[in-house]
Amino acid sequence: MCGIIGYTGVKKAVPILLAGLAALEYRGYDSAGIAVQENGLKVVKTKGRLSLLREKLEHATHLQHATCGIGHTRWATHGEPSDVNSHPHATAHLALVHNGIIENYAQIAAFLTERGYTFLSQTDTETAALLIDHYYKEEKEPQKAIFRALQMLRGAFAFGICFADYPDRIYAIRKDSPLIVASTEAGALIASDVPAILPHTNVYYRPEEGVLAVLEKAQVSFYSAAGKQVQQKTERLDWNVEQAQKGGFPHFMLKEIHEEPQAISRTVSAHLKDGLPYFGENFPTEVLKSCRAIHVVACGTAMHAGLIGKRIIERLCRIPVRVEIASEFRYRNPILEENDPVILLSQSGETADTLAALRHAREKGVPTLAIVNVNGSTLSREADHVLYTPAGPEIAVASTKAYSVQCALLYLLALHAGLARGQISAETVREICQKMQHEVPESVEKVLEMNDEICGCAKELTDAEHVFYIGRDVDFDLCTESSLKLKEISYIHSEAYAAGELKHGTISLITHGTPVVALSTVPALAGKMLSAMREVAARGAMLLTVTTKQIAAKEELPADRLLLLPDIDELLAPFPAICAMQLLAYHVSALKGLDVDKPRHLAKSVTVE
Ligand code: G6P
Repeated sequence: MCGIIGYTGVKKAVPILLAGLAALEYRGYDSAGIAVQENGLKVVKTKGRLSLLREKLEHATHLQHATCGIGHTRWATHGEPSDVNSHPHATAHLALVHNGIIENYAQIAAFLTERGYTFLSQTDTETAALLIDHYYKEEKEPQKAIFRALQMLRGAFAFGICFADYPDRIYAIRKDSPLIVASTEAGALIASDVPAILPHTNVYYRPEEGVLAVLEKAQVSFYSAAGKQVQQKTERLDWNVEQAQKGGFPHFMLKEIHEEPQAISRTVSAHLKDGLPYFGENFPTEVLKSCRAIHVVACGTAMHAGLIGKRIIERLCRIPVRVEIASEFRYRNPILEENDPVILLSQSGETADTLAALRHAREKGVPTLAIVNVNGSTLSREADHVLYTPAGPEIAVASTKAYSVQCALLYLLALHAGLARGQISAETVREICQKMQHEVPESVEKVLEMNDEICGCAKELTDAEHVFYIGRDVDFDLCTESSLKLKEISYIHSEAYAAGELKHGTISLITHGTPVVALSTVPALAGKMLSAMREVAARGAMLLTVTTKQIAAKEELPADRLLLLPDIDELLAPFPAICAMQLLAYHVSALKGLDVDKPRHLAKSVTVE
């Protein structure tokens, strides 16, 4: 999704804006641009990668001394990726960058057309720029112009705006889209996300919705729509620049997979007290104890983590769990019984659909719990309760460590609820927690050591057009995530099937050489999996069998390639298994020479509907 950066201060703005945009690249984009104040507002923008913008700027030597400007990476929503549709959008008076969607842009365009405006681009954003321009001509003052325009705008937005008449200032405001503001000795910044400001500071404001930030070189002030100055709280993030960099790995994705052991052990340790799960004094244990059902709502990989959560909660607590895609949940008028909690899972805490689902649940008055990775994110502030997954920054678009820690936290939640409901003894809970703290990270480490072997298996998949993942029970859930990982970064069509369901249709797609990844970590179902493997092998499938040493010792498994996962308590097998599957997808993408961290069309944080 679009990334915003802005800087006003004593340093040269262009390198700071470019570095900020590079730090936001992970969000996904198709064009980039900046506007700087240098004898008036100057805009340089282009379709394509940041390297193209950098090239254009090398020729714009007259802009190198500018000390104030805004920048943007665009992820196209309205209008194709093109130079003219790129941000900033400028008028005679101002330049504006935007993250979000102006839902009533057609109505605003009509309003502006009547008043003599014409449009250069096909974007919704240009209507916002021109609307503010219109009110600026009437009000002759930025603040009033912005607030008057805001009264008309519907949808989601974070804006960064420079006015030609105020060469040292940046104005910024948000509604339903992320935006942070920071003030340092060398100047003030705005950004869509923390990695963009980390080289400058780790302390920042996250302005409340509808509060206007006015950045000057030496200060930042905030104003309400009534024009009154208001105070905003600062937040601090304990991530450092190094954590947000590749640290010697060729890709963020590989680095982040390698961070899983520590991330899991940090997540578990952070939520244990006396060896038992503990989520703080205000945690609503009573709700988990008395509820009749639990709803888990999320998008993408986070939703797949929810599926693992469902297995473990239902198994350990015998509470029915319904996992739903947030974009479906929000429009379905779901049946939410009083006291049945809604758990929202999100790495970023900013996903528009997940946020809308949270708001819907809150409107219905049911308890809400957000599980997020980013401190202070919108989801974490709006939910009744929040638990953090201390995974550190996840930059690669394809989520890996965030999934593993979300699963780890859901395990702890299941153990906590199971204990509270008397379904499981404290002794057993303590034993599992102990294993999660030590044995799980160790087993994931062992999978990381299998890197070369997994890369060898990946070579078998690079030329495939279709790959099928099959599994049963929790392995089926793991297959859904494994399949998503492969398709999003390697562009190979892949599907996950419950192995027992294959023969009801999908097996007709298996022909000679079709790659099938068979995952089998559940001992009780190993025999059933064996039948499914034999069925696809008999039809010529190229079988990549992924199983545990324990299962392989008991059964003679058909396999063109065999990956043996380290043995661990069956309950905890998903952790090493998913690490192997993530590595497999990673290597296929890397071997194909694709842009692993920034796959086409995808965005890390989907802040529009
Ligand atoms: C995007 C990302 C996925 C992510 C999903 C949900 O689609 O590309 O990797 O799983 O959003 O994001 P969240 O931040 O809510 O976990």
